[in-house]
Amino acid sequence: MAYSEGLILLIVSWSKLLITSAGPRIRAFDSLCARVQGENRLRDQRYDILFEPMKIGPVTAKNRFYQVPHCNGGGYRDPSAAAEMRRIKSEGGWGVIFTEQTEMHHTSEITPFIELRLWEDQDIPALAKMAAAMRSNGALAGIQLAYSGINGPNLYTREVPRGPTALPIRTFTNDPVQARAMDKQDIRDLRRWHRNAFRRAKTAGYDLICLYGAHGFGIIQHFLSTATNQRTDEYGGSLENRSRLMRELIEEGRDAIGDSCGLTLRLSLDEMIGNLGFANSEVRDMIEMHADLPDLWDLAHGAWEDCSGPSRFKEEAAQEDLVAGIKKLTTKPVVGVGRFTSPDVMVRMIRSGALDFIGCARPSIADPFLPKKIEEGRIEDIRECIGCNICITGDMTMSISRCTQNPTFMEEWRKGWHPERIQKRGDSDTVLVVGAGPAGLEAARALGMRGYQVALAEAGTELGGRVAREARLPGLSAWGRVRDYRQYQLSQMSNVDIYLQSQLTADDILSFGFQNIALATGSTWRSDGVARAHVVPMPRDPAMPVYTPDDVMHGTEVSGNVILFDDDHYYMGGVIAEQIVRLGAKVTLVTPAAFVSDWTRNTLEQVAIHRRLTELGVEIILNRTLTSILRGGVASACVYTGKQTQIESDCVVLVTSRMQEDALWRELVAQQAEWADNGIRSVKIFGDAEAPGPIAWATYAGHRYARELDMPDIGDALPFRREVTALAAG
Ligand SMILES: Cc1cc2nc3c(=O)[nH]c(=O)nc-3n(C[C@H](O)[C@H](O)[C@H](O)COP(=O)(O)O)c2cc1C
Ligand code: SF4
Repeated sequence: MAYSEGLILLIVSWSKLLITSAGPRIRAFDSLCARVQGENRLRDQRYDILFEPMKIGPVTAKNRFYQVPHCNGGGYRDPSAAAEMRRIKSEGGWGVIFTEQTEMHHTSEITPFIELRLWEDQDIPALAKMAAAMRSNGALAGIQLAYSGINGPNLYTREVPRGPTALPIRTFTNDPVQARAMDKQDIRDLRRWHRNAFRRAKTAGYDLICLYGAHGFGIIQHFLSTATNQRTDEYGGSLENRSRLMRELIEEGRDAIGDSCGLTLRLSLDEMIGNLGFANSEVRDMIEMHADLPDLWDLAHGAWEDCSGPSRFKEEAAQEDLVAGIKKLTTKPVVGVGRFTSPDVMVRMIRSGALDFIGCARPSIADPFLPKKIEEGRIEDIRECIGCNICITGDMTMSISRCTQNPTFMEEWRKGWHPERIQKRGDSDTVLVVGAGPAGLEAARALGMRGYQVALAEAGTELGGRVAREARLPGLSAWGRVRDYRQYQLSQMSNVDIYLQSQLTADDILSFGFQNIALATGSTWRSDGVARAHVVPMPRDPAMPVYTPDDVMHGTEVSGNVILFDDDHYYMGGVIAEQIVRLGAKVTLVTPAAFVSDWTRNTLEQVAIHRRLTELGVEIILNRTLTSILRGGVASACVYTGKQTQIESDCVVLVTSRMQEDALWRELVAQQAEWADNGIRSVKIFGDAEAPGPIAWATYAGHRYARELDMPDIGDALPFRREVTALAAG
């Protein structure tokens, strides 16, 4: 097709779309690429304070943006992927960048979780590569050393775990392993192992070394807390005694590394188990007692699930009260966390005297360029973390981590994906993206950045698809950020047009003349009960009303005694239960799983969900499946014994599985012979329309589509780089 013909067709086709659209046309102006490649706008002076250089012991951070340690599912298995991910953050302007927790001795490791290791000199080259990546754009490189004590089951090394007191190992998986109480020789050994690890970390090129005493994961906390330290010698009893090991490790660390590295300490603001644990008041006493011991106090919170609370249960800056006033107890700088994405909140944290550094894990994952965007006055370009905790599932499932907002996370090395840059378009010009849910929006955004002429057609009246609908459910308003970020970016692109209320047929699409057709038509919840317990439709009396999450999200009234059957196991069952209870229904949630919202154990929110539902009066029935839907109730069976019980109800809500919306795709495939004559080069389906999954899967699929359009066919080759790690390989 000649260029001029294509252009005419394009105009004809776009005007046709405009005519079919009864809704507003969202017009675009500047090219995002030009913006991203730097308009050099000056930052707002209000934010100057965030860019002040700050001393941490003997080293100086160029600003107050401090990426606190976070794992990524890659660790020792994928060190190059992890190193490149950190290098990108250095490019994004962070003043301090940390590794994840690094197992510092083989007598304490947390297999099956995959973190970094610094067990021997052979581990140094991989960690040196990471430090160099962090420092590449002027950030300080930090390494977090972890001796996991009663949190390390040692399933790989088979060493007997050690802790201050003999107690069962405390892990997510309740491993049937106990730790023995450390004797004085063990403590001397531990101190020597730390000195060795300090020297290795220094050799690897780190500027900051952090001792991990937070989240119940580090031995320093195990000694500090009376819950885990029941010793009667000089390492137990009084606060001074319980902090003795911490003091020795830091003082000896300083001797080992000299004055070229800063030494920091990570503690929880409150262990969150009452007075038996290391509570906030005692944390304050301890900081006052050892005010100037570390070069910086890094204050995390509670257990990991408290610290990385999802947006459903925790607001930005949720720890503000717990950290307030601590800075007055020490002359050393303080860093704290709180899913900070707003520069105004960050400034408030500094100006109010709560913090010196803004600690970020998730906000730095969702947007590795967050500091740079603030610095360049591009606040509206920040890709704000939505607090969904999908990033944590990578660690929990020992896979490579993902991010809902940032599909390039952990693909920087594997696929060469950069979060802010993308290759120019290939040899075609035009793309019609059908469906403006997370997959379609992300595809349109990335295609627009590549320079394609993009039309985004949405059948509904708003952008966002499922995220727009789900954001209206209780606690999920932050899901809307998936749409908001992309909607704004698209509004800045002159080469992307958006058409609402444009329900397209295959014939429409064939007649438009777009060269590439991207189908992101989403999915709908099934009403026939098919999921895991039932692979064919569940027997059902037609007299019984049955609803799906889509019905609830579309405002259908669901009242009376409701049985909610959750065979999906992620957040939707619990959220829908919460929604209909709040609207007045009485809900019994039945699930074949042993936990309500079972998979949310991987997002660290399962306990909070169970608590919330119980507090709302939802009756929870675990380990039970529905066998059929009856008139006036359901038949259910115990998943272990098959024993049947009937439960009365007025209606049933099925949260089971979703059906891909692929009718358009199938129609187009049936007319494949007509594609070429209509100028169509490619038709692809992706996201929920191809196979429903979490939102992160959809943004990834949309991004991947955009990256791979017009790229050479790689045949049977792997679409990502793999790493087979060799010790000391560098
Ligand atoms: C994916 C992920 C992995 C984490 N891994 C670690 C870790 O290895 N060491 C650690 O001290 N904290 C870890 N954390 C906790 C964070 O450092 C941080 O304290 C917490 O997420 C709150 O900060 P945020 O709200 O900025 O995410 C992790 C958090 C996330 C999200
Ligand atoms: S996965 Fe979710 S919580 Fe984690 S960084 Fe991305 S948006 Fe934030």
